[in-house]
Amino acid sequence: MEERRVAFITGGTTGIGRECSLTLAKEGFDIAINCINEPEEYTELKDEVEANGVRCFFTKGDVSKFDDAERMVNEVIEHYGRIDVLLNNAGITRDTLLMRMKKEDFESVINVNLVGTFNMTKHVVPYMMKRRYGRIISMASVVGVGGNAGQANYAASKAGIIGFTKSLAKELGSRNILVNAIAPGYIKTAMTEVLPDKVKEGIKEQIPLRELGEAKDVANLVKFLSSEDSSYITGQVIHVDGGMLM
Ligand SMILES: NC(=O)c1ccc[n+]([C@@H]2O[C@H](COP(=O)([O-])OP(=O)(O)OC[C@H]3O[C@@H](n4cnc5c(N)ncnc54)[C@H](O)[C@@H]3O)[C@@H](O)[C@H]2O)c1
Repeated sequence: MEERRVAFITGGTTGIGRECSLTLAKEGFDIAINCINEPEEYTELKDEVEANGVRCFFTKGDVSKFDDAERMVNEVIEHYGRIDVLLNNAGITRDTLLMRMKKEDFESVINVNLVGTFNMTKHVVPYMMKRRYGRIISMASVVGVGGNAGQANYAASKAGIIGFTKSLAKELGSRNILVNAIAPGYIKTAMTEVLPDKVKEGIKEQIPLRELGEAKDVANLVKFLSSEDSSYITGQVIHVDGGMLM
């Protein structure tokens, strides 16, 4: 059987992550998806992925836990024998102004978004180094570049991902491991669905393209960064935001 490349997507069952799982499946990748519920809950997604003639494997765990990350990476390696692309996509928000922000609001967001990205990358990189090939793509945010009132925790976590990405790009370039971050603006998913309509209208005013983005807009960039067409791109933060932050 022809060897397929393997993409491992954290938080890959909803929103942007789900779209990326399906897009990379269409590109012919075998897909590994990290989920937080029992894998049996995602049979519909599994069928959708496998309809592209590729395999789909789920591993349940919390990216913010170092041991879970190690176990999940080992499970994927046991299942497929390789990881070509790691997409650090799992993320949460706990929005509130600093005056009201609890220690737990700050720590939980840093732990999932930033420490989770470290945990997963830390355990995947040794396998990529051995094969002298790898793509690490992490979901940052325009908020990590420009800041946002009410999101000091989230912005700090995403800015951290950007520094992490640039450092690793320098460390791992000689091993042919490319490390990039994506900075989405406002994308229509469960994360932004909670925003009141009035706030959404205000946001659209700040976007030159006058619309919130679709998960597909981000997945198309993930497709490019996972392909051989992007083999001279590393250490970059690429915005997908309709021109919101320039
Ligand atoms: N939607 C946007 O406008 C937007 C903008 C910028 C960045 N992002 C980033 O894109 C990524 C995907 O967000 P989304 O909009 O698809 O929202 P989403 O809530 O649908 O996706 C987040 C995923 O992360 C998973 N997750 C949460 N905590 C986890 C944990 N501890 N361990 C493992 N998985 C966990 C969730 O189960 C979910 O599948 C996030 O990193 C988010 O910060 C989103």
